[in-house]
Amino acid sequence: MIDFTQLSGAAFAPMAGLSDAPARRIMAEYGAAYTVSEMVSAKALTYGDRKTGALLSGGGGCAPYGIQIFGAEPQTMAEGAKLVLKYNPDFIDINMGCPAPKITGGGAGSALMRDPALCGAIAEAVVKAVPVPVTVKLRKGWDADTVTCTEVAKRCEAAGVSLLAVHGRTREEMYTPPIDPGCIAAVKQAVGIPVLGNGDLLTAADAKQLMAETGCDGVMIGRGALGNPWLFAEIKAMLAGQPTPAGPTLKDRMDLLLRQVYAMCEEKGEGPAMRQARTQVMYFLKGLHGAAELRRAACGLTYYRDAEELVRLVYRHNVG
Ligand SMILES: Cc1cc2nc3c(=O)[nH]c(=O)nc-3n(C[C@H](O)[C@H](O)[C@H](O)COP(=O)(O)O)c2cc1C
Repeated sequence: MIDFTQLSGAAFAPMAGLSDAPARRIMAEYGAAYTVSEMVSAKALTYGDRKTGALLSGGGGCAPYGIQIFGAEPQTMAEGAKLVLKYNPDFIDINMGCPAPKITGGGAGSALMRDPALCGAIAEAVVKAVPVPVTVKLRKGWDADTVTCTEVAKRCEAAGVSLLAVHGRTREEMYTPPIDPGCIAAVKQAVGIPVLGNGDLLTAADAKQLMAETGCDGVMIGRGALGNPWLFAEIKAMLAGQPTPAGPTLKDRMDLLLRQVYAMCEEKGEGPAMRQARTQVMYFLKGLHGAAELRRAACGLTYYRDAEELVRLVYRHNVG
């Protein structure tokens, strides 16, 4: 059974449309402490929705794998959690952070932050329903007047939750202003279970600073790891007091881009995979010369061979 008090390094954040099985396996291979699935609806699981199941298969490679569920009712969340056990997760993660109106409109995701008692009840129902550990991903609160993270954190801990990952923004703030390290520090102070800080971490130095500032036990990285899984090794080295490993070469990055896109095609079929790859690939192109042309090519990816052509274009603009 996974012991969150023994984990070190950075976890790979759940991201709908991005933390699919190929991404999870690559992040794990490059040193993520654990990975989490894209969020799935507990209600859809109870209806036996097939598309939902497809998001969960493929596991998390060589690191522990969590499945994230969202919902607004303790009973449905408990049933959903039981139903995902067939995908062999090492733990279940509860989404209390998603800001999307289609999720919050139903009272789920970050809307839960308005009701700490309900958060506690959902956490308790899920903890009781499954034999694996349960973690929670939360935000600072709903808005500036409803900053509830410490209360929610305490209730989750009392319900038997094993770890909290705190995105340091309210729902109202979505993804825009800088995160508030103060709320992560407050959660760390309020509970005894491990706390991960999350939001806008792009380098090992960012992770180090957040850990020093907040006392959090580790970090969770989402967008900063896309196209840059080498960040996990850099953070591990930083935490161990070792020198920063040499960063990737352009060839390393392009080889990995093609490997990830190929794995997506194998997993989902070329059509759906290539549509999804358009976003994933953009992250590999950050900072390269020829940005406008590369972006156009990435937006038009339709077949796997288009990804190979894109890589040739990258070399044309960036070598010699
Ligand atoms: C496209 C996208 C999809 C996301 N999907 C989820 C999700 O399914 N579940 C979740 O808890 N958070 C989700 N998030 C939030 C991230 O897990 C993370 O909290 C946020 O991006 C801040 O971290 P970062 O700056 O390291 O990316 C998503 C974020 C993005 C950008």
